[in-house]
Order: sequence, then structure tokens, then C-alpha cells
Amino acid sequence: MVRPVERLFSSGLFQNRCKPGMSHVRGTGTSLREAAGFAASFANRLTSDSRVTGGSFENRIRFLLETIDAIRREWRADLPLFVRISATDWVEGGWNIEDSVHLCRILKERGDVDLVDYSSGGNDPAQRMPSYPGYYQVPFAERLRGEAMIATAAVGLISAPEAAEEIIANQRADLVTLGRILLFDPYWPLHAAKALKSNTVSWPLQYERANIF
Ligand SMILES: Cc1cc2nc3c(=O)[nH]c(=O)nc-3n(C[C@H](O)[C@H](O)[C@H](O)COP(=O)(O)O)c2cc1C
Repeated sequence: MVRPVERLFSSGLFQNRCKPGMSHVRGTGTSLREAAGFAASFANRLTSDSRVTGGSFENRIRFLLETIDAIRREWRADLPLFVRISATDWVEGGWNIEDSVHLCRILKERGDVDLVDYSSGGNDPAQRMPSYPGYYQVPFAERLRGEAMIATAAVGLISAPEAAEEIIANQRADLVTLGRILLFDPYWPLHAAKALKSNTVSWPLQYERANIF
């Protein structure tokens, strides 16, 4: 299972995607989050005696750790590597936040991952997630940061500038990442800077005449 992944990262495909000027790489989507999702015992039904990647916690996280090793061998050591995990499956008996803390302590000790962010759920139809909307995932950033002492990014339906500011100001996370709100309002950073009365963000010259509201 791991060897083809190693080959992929050393095959030149990864290097070709690493353009000059790239500031960090985040393993997510079908790469590291799914590698992390592979650590959930109900998703990974391999048994410990059939493979070294199934069974115990240590075996189930091996795929993720060896993928990180493979990326680190190719990615510049002076640039950060972010890892996305699934913080919880929201399923009784599935991967949970305690498992995530355990994993993040291991990542912290290894020292080769600079920041962890997360998504959650999506691995089992029996999942029970808290009611929408709310900043329901922010407590995960707090726990991973506080208990594993690893830098985290808070993510998930964060939309109000004041909420983003509060998360950073109260050191609940080291970074806030935004998705859908930027699709809804591509000028969110400019609008947020205004709402927070920040004068550190400059508007593009072409837009300055609209900077009156
Ligand atoms: C339709 C949809 C599909 C998503 N699929 C994934 C996924 O496969 N893996 C993942 O880590 N996150 C996934 N996410 C979460 C996003 O990567 C991202 O964390 C989230 O959209 C950012 O938060 P926000 O959009 O709530 O601000 C998905 C989000 C949406 C809306």
C-alpha cells in the first residue's frame, strides 16, 4: 500500500506541481485526509496479521506517517507542510477527537508537520453531526492545539469577520481557513478588514473608488 505512494511522490509528478513561489503544501482531499481517514478502525478493516497497515492504532496511522515521510523527502525542508485530518467520524466507535489528539501528539513529536487542519465526518452514513450552522468544528482546533501543542487551523463555516478575529485573538487556533464564504463573497478579506477597522489591508488601486462604504 505504501510503496506506490512513495513512488508517486518521487516520480517527478509532485515536483512538477511544486511551482516556484509556493509557500506551503497541504495534503488534503484524496491524499492526506484520506490517508488519515484510513486510520479509523471501522473504515480500515484490514487485520493486523494480514497487513502492517491495519489492526492497532499504530498500524492504522502507518499509511499516513509513511505518506508524510514520502512528501517530506521531496518537499523543501524550509517550507511548511500542513496535514489535514478528519477530526472525528461523528460515529459511535469510529475515529474520534481523542484519536486525533493522540495522532497529533505523534506528529508533534516527529516534528515534520507544521500545522494540522481538519474536516470531519463523511465516512459513515450513521454519522450524527451537531446542528447546522455554528462554528461547530472550532473546538477541535482548540483541543488539538492545547493537548498536542501543535499549530492548528480552524475551519468550517466560519464567515463573520468578528468570529475569525475572536478565534485568533483568543488563541483558539493559529490560522483560520475559509472556503464557501469566499465563494459567496470573493471580496471577504477587504470587507472583513473594514468591519474590523483594520488599516493594514490595501485595496487594489482599481477598486479604490468603491472604498467609501
Ligand atoms: C461539497 C464539499 C465537499 C468537501 N469535500 C471535502 C473532502 O473531500 N475532503 C476534505 O478534507 N474536505 C472537504 N470539504 C471541506 C472543505 O475542504 C473545507 O474544509 C471547507 O469547505 C472549508 O470550510 P468552509 O467552506 O465551511 O469555510 C468539502 C466541503 C464541501 C462544501
